[in-house]
Amino acid sequence: MVPIPLTTVFFLLVLLQQRVAIATLYENIQDIPPTNYDFVILGGNDPGGTAGCVVANRLSENEKFNVLVIEAGGPNMGILAIDIPLFTYTIPSRYEWNTTTIPQPALNNRSVNFPHAFILGGSSSHNGMYYNRGPRDDWDRYARLTGDEGWSWNSIQPFIAKNERWTLPADNHNTTGQYNPSVHSTTGINSVTLAGFPLPINPLSLQASQELGGIFAFNLDYNSGNPLGTSWGQYTINKGTRSSAAASYLAPEFINRKNLHVLVNARVSRVLQTSSHSHVPQVLGVEFAQNLNGPFHRVNASKEVVISTGAINTPQLLLNSGIGNSTFLSSIGITPLVHLPSVGQNMSVHASAKNVWIVNASAQTDDIIFQNQTLQNELIEQWMRTKRGPLVDAASGLSIYFRFNHTILATLGEDPSSGSTAPHAAIGMQPANIPNVPAAGKFFTMSTAVLTPTSRGSITINSTSPSVFAPPVIDARTLSSQFDLLAMREVIRTAVSFVSASAWDGYITSPTDNLAAALESDEALDDYIRTIGGPNEHVVGTASMTSPDATYGVVNPDLLVKGVAGLRIVDASILPLVTAGHTMAPAYIVAERASSLIKKKWETHH
Ligand SMILES: *[C@@H]1O[C@H](CO)[C@@H](O)[C@H](O)[C@H]1NC(C)=O
Ligand SMILES: *[C@@H]1O[C@H](CO)[C@@H](O)[C@H](O)[C@H]1NC(C)=O
Ligand SMILES: *[C@@H]1O[C@H](CO)[C@@H](O)[C@H](O)[C@H]1NC(C)=O
Ligand SMILES: *[C@@H]1O[C@H](CO)[C@@H](O)[C@H](O)[C@H]1NC(C)=O
Ligand SMILES: *[C@@H]1O[C@H](CO)[C@@H](O)[C@H](O)[C@H]1NC(C)=O
Ligand SMILES: *[C@@H]1O[C@H](CO)[C@@H](O)[C@H](O)[C@H]1NC(C)=O
Ligand SMILES: *[C@@H]1O[C@H](CO)[C@@H](O)[C@H](O)[C@H]1NC(C)=O
Ligand SMILES: *[C@@H]1O[C@H](CO)[C@@H](O)[C@H](O)[C@H]1NC(C)=O
Ligand SMILES: *[C@@H]1O[C@H](CO)[C@@H](O)[C@H](O)[C@H]1NC(C)=O
Ligand SMILES: *[C@@H]1O[C@H](CO)[C@@H](O)[C@H](O)[C@H]1NC(C)=O
Repeated sequence: MVPIPLTTVFFLLVLLQQRVAIATLYENIQDIPPTNYDFVILGGNDPGGTAGCVVANRLSENEKFNVLVIEAGGPNMGILAIDIPLFTYTIPSRYEWNTTTIPQPALNNRSVNFPHAFILGGSSSHNGMYYNRGPRDDWDRYARLTGDEGWSWNSIQPFIAKNERWTLPADNHNTTGQYNPSVHSTTGINSVTLAGFPLPINPLSLQASQELGGIFAFNLDYNSGNPLGTSWGQYTINKGTRSSAAASYLAPEFINRKNLHVLVNARVSRVLQTSSHSHVPQVLGVEFAQNLNGPFHRVNASKEVVISTGAINTPQLLLNSGIGNSTFLSSIGITPLVHLPSVGQNMSVHASAKNVWIVNASAQTDDIIFQNQTLQNELIEQWMRTKRGPLVDAASGLSIYFRFNHTILATLGEDPSSGSTAPHAAIGMQPANIPNVPAAGKFFTMSTAVLTPTSRGSITINSTSPSVFAPPVIDARTLSSQFDLLAMREVIRTAVSFVSASAWDGYITSPTDNLAAALESDEALDDYIRTIGGPNEHVVGTASMTSPDATYGVVNPDLLVKGVAGLRIVDASILPLVTAGHTMAPAYIVAERASSLIKKKWETHH
């Protein structure tokens, strides 16, 4: 395996560019002028924390509101590994929390990586940039589960429009027939686009889709509310550069607002009670440190504290603050503030696996870009000069979303999907053996995912470690249910049937050895799944929203934490179940709607 090489030139560029851009952020609390903040927003981390940048932007639109963002990671600007879309597979671990799960019995007792970003912009600064709103039925189910029609597919449309700014792809190619313009917005803040460099696998996938039809039939736009079929990918990329929440919502025109302060390199340890309000504790205090050994600082908000630390760190922060299962908290010496036993429970995350085929040596794949450093340097130079070439994309081909038919569902025993627009599974395609590109060879990867998992995991704090900054204890439980395992078998077999289309003749040579062996029997396939499979980055549910009168859940449908005043959670942790799609766009939608709810509350009453 070749760990992706980064050149000296590359590092120098990173350093130079960072120094220019950093002036708009505060790296040290002492440099911030004393301010009475209306809102303090915690984090821009992880698959949901992206939301914090959105809330910061929207609240600071009102000049009367003073807003502080506290971010654990560093600034996002001018880092090539972040800005260049193709390098999403090789982002250095210093932009990572480096968390792993506890040993997972369903994954042959492996502890698996649980990646989430440690940098401004959260996982949007770090992920595959895939823009996917999820199916209509998922949002309608959120509305049903919470009793709030405001979460339905129809109701969220204005928030999609506020977020999305449809942009021409990097190569300005004719995009007719690759998406449906009528379901996109050109007036939002974050750029969404189609791939800007042609891949040889794209025409082959389209041909296979035509040849096989059925569940593989072409779908013009997976963001129309019905994602089923084979579609072109849509990405948060702006003219060849990653468009993260930090790059878009905290662009210079916004971050330079006088009423918005962004403090980086500051880890929040706890939220704190400031007083009582209508007999419940008011939680408007925030404790944080810029150094793991302290000193600890304190800041209070006058209106609200907004937690956007994401589905992994949010439950950890709540538990450290005494918000969680009181019995558990008391047993480990934390004074309970409010009994909310759902904190960190019912975590929902997709199961995924990467399956690799060998490609004809005379065909073209992206492996070479990671195998030949000279070529990579040339492409970096091309990217810097023109923002064109193969680095402008995440190297994803078309994707397939599909439902299991009735026969398959009968063998799986249940249908956990939200309805007829919701896929049970997805297949993504990459023209390389990503992320661990071998020193030689050409490959084709099919990422298979179960999008409607029935297993539920948990995130809690370490009962034997006294530090608020100790890593959380993550028990993903991925593939621990019968449904998830059988469903993964089915997705892999579906991927194999896609590759069997004659369209791939001459391009794909054979499955890699371990995949070939896995296809010999159910037992071999199960073992392969437990050996290479695991959770992906799409984590939700650890601070779930439920209706105000529900007997479980962490926040109300307006995202205010139950049983306390002043505290709101705005990130992917509030989604009760993972969407049957990627979770970044849902995090943006949640953040835009939450911002609107917060403004509505504070712009009308004082
Ligand atoms: C993750 O590991 C890298 C490499 O050791 C380190 O630089 C980085 O600070 C770590 N992240 C955190 C949040 O500690
Ligand atoms: C996983 O670990 C448990 C507890 O140590 C053990 O009982 C079990 O046999 C292990 N499973 C595998 C597949 O190694
Ligand atoms: C783009 O392609 C479509 C269909 O192939 C064609 O009708 C249209 O004229 C093209 N647009 C431009 C600007 O070339
Ligand atoms: C924050 O509020 C608490 C409780 O009301 C108060 O004791 C503390 O002095 C305040 N801290 C700051 C920095 O304003
Ligand atoms: C709270 O935690 C205790 C002790 O860990 C556990 O026994 C109990 O089941 C939990 N309560 C709920 C409602 O999950
Ligand atoms: C988990 O979610 C289910 C509904 O899906 C609910 O019945 C249960 O109470 C939840 N558990 C916790 C600890 O929140
Ligand atoms: C690596 O790429 C460079 C630049 O494109 C090319 O000249 C060279 O032949 C390549 N090396 C190999 C071993 O393919
Ligand atoms: C259901 O799907 C399976 C697997 O894709 C396929 O073999 C079977 O023919 C399908 N059955 C029906 C009735 O379509
Ligand atoms: C919990 O903390 C203890 C003591 O620091 C440590 O040995 C253990 O590995 C931690 N457990 C996890 C799951 O992080
Ligand atoms: C590999 O590609 C070459 C050139 O297109 C073709 O002649 C050859 O038949 C292919 N090999 C296989 C095994 O498909």
